[in-house]
Amino acid sequence: MPNKPKKTTTIRRRDFLKSAAGTGAGLLILPSGFLLGAGAPSNKLNIAMIGTWGRAGAHFGIAKGENVVALCDIDENHLAGAAKRWPKAKTYVDWRKCLDQKDINAVICCTTDHTHAFIANWAINRGMHVYCEKPLGNTVEEARVVRANYLKNKTKIATQVGTQRHAIPNFNRVRELVLDGAIGELKAAYAWGNRQLRRKGYLPGKDKDGRYFKPPKHLNYDLWIGPAPFHPYNPGYFSGGPGMNCLSWNMFWDFGTGQVGDMGSHTMDLAWNALDADLPTCAEGVAYPANSPEASGGRSKDGKVTKPIPAHPEVSPVELHTSWDIPANKWRAKIRLHWYQGGMMPRSPKAEVNLRKIGHGAMFKGTNGFIVAGFGSRMVIPYGKEADKIDYNPRPKDKQIPDIGSFQGQWVKAAKGDLKTSCDFDYGGKLIETMLLGLVAYRVGKKIDYDGKTGKVANSPEATALLSKKYRDGWKLDG
Ligand SMILES: NC(=O)c1ccc[n+]([C@@H]2O[C@H](COP(=O)([O-])OP(=O)(O)OC[C@H]3O[C@@H](n4cnc5c(N)ncnc54)[C@H](O)[C@@H]3O)[C@@H](O)[C@H]2O)c1
Repeated sequence: MPNKPKKTTTIRRRDFLKSAAGTGAGLLILPSGFLLGAGAPSNKLNIAMIGTWGRAGAHFGIAKGENVVALCDIDENHLAGAAKRWPKAKTYVDWRKCLDQKDINAVICCTTDHTHAFIANWAINRGMHVYCEKPLGNTVEEARVVRANYLKNKTKIATQVGTQRHAIPNFNRVRELVLDGAIGELKAAYAWGNRQLRRKGYLPGKDKDGRYFKPPKHLNYDLWIGPAPFHPYNPGYFSGGPGMNCLSWNMFWDFGTGQVGDMGSHTMDLAWNALDADLPTCAEGVAYPANSPEASGGRSKDGKVTKPIPAHPEVSPVELHTSWDIPANKWRAKIRLHWYQGGMMPRSPKAEVNLRKIGHGAMFKGTNGFIVAGFGSRMVIPYGKEADKIDYNPRPKDKQIPDIGSFQGQWVKAAKGDLKTSCDFDYGGKLIETMLLGLVAYRVGKKIDYDGKTGKVANSPEATALLSKKYRDGWKLDG
């Protein structure tokens, strides 16, 4: 009889999945401007590419099949390069002007993180479909504003956060393992990333001889700063190669959120996809040196606690452990969710399994065992008193969650059809809001209680102050 409760709950999970899959089936709401749905050859999107170099290159393929009618970049050299590819497109250096072009109905946003929520929100206000590179926002407020605006408009537009690894079939194999009860009842989930980028503070505005660095003529530096507080130009913010330049600015609070918004967007997605999670009820955050016992959830042998790394006022943390209580849903009880980065790691369930060998991974703890996963790999580890209850049968092919195929293609197809994408601004918005709330808890150095409905922190005015940002004069999140 000991297996009985597990079987019942497994069936409950399966039923839930079936009915959840069924909910969307058969619905085909066509967005305005599209008369015949996805299959009609005449239905091409009119795309504005905002940010035309670097990461934008990953979207050229999908854009080529549509009409690119507008290009926008603060770097006029980058803009000229893109204009060679799309000579008929109108060109802009200011995205606010670009979004006023009347024939645009879809936007691909590949700019700096501190402009994502602005561009996404303004585009939604103009009825445009949006593909926005990760992270969707840099503050809890930004994530909430964009998500709320999307929810108001979701019967008209398709959105996708640029977490393209979501299309790796392993993401859904992991989800199936969790939902089908491979490790029994889910108790906790973990995600981690090992990237370490250390910065000392904003880059100096002057060279070693005390002369101000001057932005080159082709760079509209004031527009690059955009809504952020002004920091003087330093060529170091532009010194990375294509698709890697984000690493030159994303560690500084006014421009990014470090590895939380960077690899955290991708790696937490591997866990989040299997949780059907809502916003957390609390958040905590600490940072210990990567080589300390605390970095792997332990304590030093002499009982001394390593000193936490103090928060640098200008730079997001390298080492970090944040965690949240995620409320119960229809198929599972409340769970604890954890994010580790920069060398801090969850404790491995077995000494033989070296989690550090998975640079960016996720782990799920259940009553019978653990699932450990990388972006493209997974393993189930029986564990504890109930370990022998593991009797998982993988789903037959025809019962598996269907593959996404091209991730950008899914967005284009959705924009022309049923508007459904895997990482819409509701799913992706909640994920990044949760991650950003963890950063707030780390910055104030205490557990914060959170109400996901109102977006309010109950027990910390300092945390409340960090949920949002003041923007430079002339820049509005909602415009
Ligand atoms: N999904 C992924 O795997 C992935 C990979 C790399 C980067 N990214 C994301 O893509 C974005 C861009 O990263 P990157 O390394 O290409 O950065 P980048 O600094 O090279 O900027 C990309 C382009 O946007 C332009 N730009 C910057 N601010 C602009 C603005 N306000 N208006 C118009 N154009 C602007 C730049 O001049 C450049 O041409 C980042 O948000 C990053 O997080 C995602």
